[in-house]
Amino acid sequence: MNAPDDPSGSSCYRQVFAEAPAVSTTALSRVDILGGHTDYNQGFVLAAPMPLTTSVELSFKENLGDATGNHIEIEGYSTLTGDKAVHRIPARSDSASRHRRGDWIDYVVGAVRELQSAGADVSSFRLAASGNVPTGAGLASSASFSVALLRGLGKLFEHSLEGESLAKTAQRIERIHVGVNCGIMDPLILVDGTVGNALFIDTLTLAREAIAIDPDYRLEVIDCGERRRLADVGYNLRRDECQRAAQTLGVNSLRELDGDEPDLKDLPPPLDRRVRHVLSENLRVIEARNALKSGNYAALGRLMHASHLSLRDDYEVSVPALDRLVEDCLTAGALGARLAGAGFGGCVVALIESAQRDIWRRRIATMNTRACVFDSC
Ligand code: GLA
Repeated sequence: MNAPDDPSGSSCYRQVFAEAPAVSTTALSRVDILGGHTDYNQGFVLAAPMPLTTSVELSFKENLGDATGNHIEIEGYSTLTGDKAVHRIPARSDSASRHRRGDWIDYVVGAVRELQSAGADVSSFRLAASGNVPTGAGLASSASFSVALLRGLGKLFEHSLEGESLAKTAQRIERIHVGVNCGIMDPLILVDGTVGNALFIDTLTLAREAIAIDPDYRLEVIDCGERRRLADVGYNLRRDECQRAAQTLGVNSLRELDGDEPDLKDLPPPLDRRVRHVLSENLRVIEARNALKSGNYAALGRLMHASHLSLRDDYEVSVPALDRLVEDCLTAGALGARLAGAGFGGCVVALIESAQRDIWRRRIATMNTRACVFDSC
């Protein structure tokens, strides 16, 4: 969730509510280098934070409409929708889904409920959300909003969460309160990653390793212009397919198959292709980690392209606009390129030599007039 940039650079909250916020927080976005759809299969990922941010500004609010204290009032404004409205929610709730509205307020309610179950005493508040992470573009805009919200509300109501517990709580907001059964990659990169470094994560153990990206190379993030909403596309379906495949193969998760050569003939299509992607992608992440550590960027680029082909053919989460953009990136001189995040639209991440940046961007702009390049790392 996010919004267009505030061109004046000043506080969105101040503009909307004509007063200074009590608390301001931000969260970055992320770009995944390798490890597409492996995190919810307890596999490996390699990703990096991106310097696009979501901002959340907050203050306490008097509960004007309800002196009984039975409700919490959230007076919210988001530059994404441009609307300002007061939402009243029961002061306490057992059922998250009862209040699901299918818009950005679900994240806010989710953050409130999660902080309450962690012991925070949450009362009415005003909130302004802004930022420059494109929504539904594969750059973890939802995790960015969830992390910024938890940081902000945690500060306001004096219940701060850090590190893994912050990441796991942000993941729960999406799973329980928004309805996307996402993995841990995005929030963990946002809370633990540093710009300029890749973070390798074993999502089974949550073991992590930061690896510096050589400044002679850079990741470019290019938007193909097509949008999707994860809850509406095949994300949860892919997850279910992996679970069914694991059950058929007699394991708890596909990670348990690492090192084995499972007989994919036991699986009906498309489950065989889904498993082939996940297993081959895990191997590619390990190879990519080694390539990054040894400075073999040509190998890293080849692995990124192989990842895209596997996501396109075996996992079937690409679309023609992404495929075309990947090919354009390679033709323009990238060492490798692949779809970012969940796919189904959104962005491509390309690995290029830093010295080639300007010429590479000019070539992309000529070849693909719909493409839009973001500043990345
Ligand atoms: C989305 C999810 C992540 C991950 C990616 C695909 O970004 O939020 O958990 O599954 O898709 O790798």
